[in-house]
Amino acid sequence: MKALITAGGKGTRLRPITYTSNKHLIPIANKPMIAYAVDAVVGAGIKDIGIVINPDTGREMERALNDMNSWGARFTFIVQEAPQGLAHVVKVSRSFIGEEPFIFYLGDNVIVKGIDGFLKDFLQSGDNAHLVLARVKEPQRFGVAAIKEGRIVSVEEKPARPKSEYAVTGIYFYDQTIFEAVENITPSDRGELEISDAHQYLIDKGYRVGYSEATGWWKDTGKPEDLLEANRLVLDQMLDGREDAISGDVDEKTDIAGKVIIEGGAKVSNSSLRGPLIIGKGCVVENSYIGPYTSIDAECLIRDSEVEYSVVMEQCHIVEADVRIERSLLGRGAKIIKGYSRPRTQRFIIGDQSTIVLA
Ligand code: G1P
Repeated sequence: MKALITAGGKGTRLRPITYTSNKHLIPIANKPMIAYAVDAVVGAGIKDIGIVINPDTGREMERALNDMNSWGARFTFIVQEAPQGLAHVVKVSRSFIGEEPFIFYLGDNVIVKGIDGFLKDFLQSGDNAHLVLARVKEPQRFGVAAIKEGRIVSVEEKPARPKSEYAVTGIYFYDQTIFEAVENITPSDRGELEISDAHQYLIDKGYRVGYSEATGWWKDTGKPEDLLEANRLVLDQMLDGREDAISGDVDEKTDIAGKVIIEGGAKVSNSSLRGPLIIGKGCVVENSYIGPYTSIDAECLIRDSEVEYSVVMEQCHIVEADVRIERSLLGRGAKIIKGYSRPRTQRFIIGDQSTIVLA
C-alpha cells in the first residue's frame, strides 16, 4: 500500500511566515508540520510515500524531507503544476499509486493518535472510499458529511447550511474507484476539482463510502491562533504520561513545574519554566519566564523576558522585552529587543502583512 501526502498549498493566510517558507514546514512543538503527516502514515506501516509539491516551494520541501528522513521512508515527489484542487492532486498521482488501495493525507492536518486504527477499519469495511470524520463547531469551514445508518449519504464542500456537525478531515482511504470519480467531475465555482465532489460522485454511483470518527484532530483553518492551538494539542499529547526530558543544562536557580523538554546543548539559568513546553537545542534562556504551551526552536536567545503560549522559530532573540509576550508566532531569526538610544521610540522592521499588537 502507498500513501499520498499533499505539501503544496501556499498558506496565504499564514503570511508573512509563508512568504519565506512552505506552510508545511512551520514547526509545531519544534517539528515541521509535514513530519506529523509522515509519522502518521509510517505509523500505519506505509513507507512508500508520494509527496505532492508545488513548483515554487517544492525544492525546499524535498530537501527538508530528505534531510529528516529517519523513518526510512521512500519519498517520490510529484509536482502539481497549478493549484487545481484536491481531486486534481489525486488525478496527477495516478501513475505513482498504481493499482493498489492507498491513503490520501492532507499534509496540513495533524492527528495526535495516529491512523492505523482507521486503516484497519477501511480494510475490514470493504468500502471503496473511507473518510475520517470529526465533530467540529464550525462545519461550514470544511467538507461536511451527512450520515444515515452508518453510511455517508452526502458530502458537501463548505456548505452555508451544514447538514451535520461532521467535518471531513484530510485523511482518506481509497481503492481504484476514486480515479473514475476524479475523471468525471467538473471544476467548482472557484475553478477547482473538489475532493468533496469526487466523494459525492462515488455515493451517486452506488459505491460504498464509509467512515471512522477521529478525536484529537487539528486542521489549520488559516489564522495564526489556529497554529498556536495545534502547538498546544501536540505539546499536551507529547508529554502525556511522560517524565520531563531534560538533556540541556539547567542551573539550580531555575525552577521547573509541569512537563518540560529541554533539548541537548540548551542552557537555562535563573528562570521559571511552566510546562508543557519545549526548548530546542542550543537555546540560551537567562533570567526569564517561559510559560505553558510554548515551543522555542533551536538556537534562540531569551534573556530578561517572559514568553507564554507562543511558537518561536529558530534563532530568534527576545531580550529585555518589558511586557510578557503571549499568543505570538515569531518567524525564523526574528528579534524583539530593548533599545537604549535616544529618543526613546518603538522601531520596527517587519515583513509584509505582519501584525504587531502593542501593550
Ligand atoms: C480541504 C477539503 C475539505 C476538508 C479539508 C480538511 O479543504 O476540500 O473538504 O474538510 O480539506 O483539511 P481546504 O482546507 O483545502 O479548503
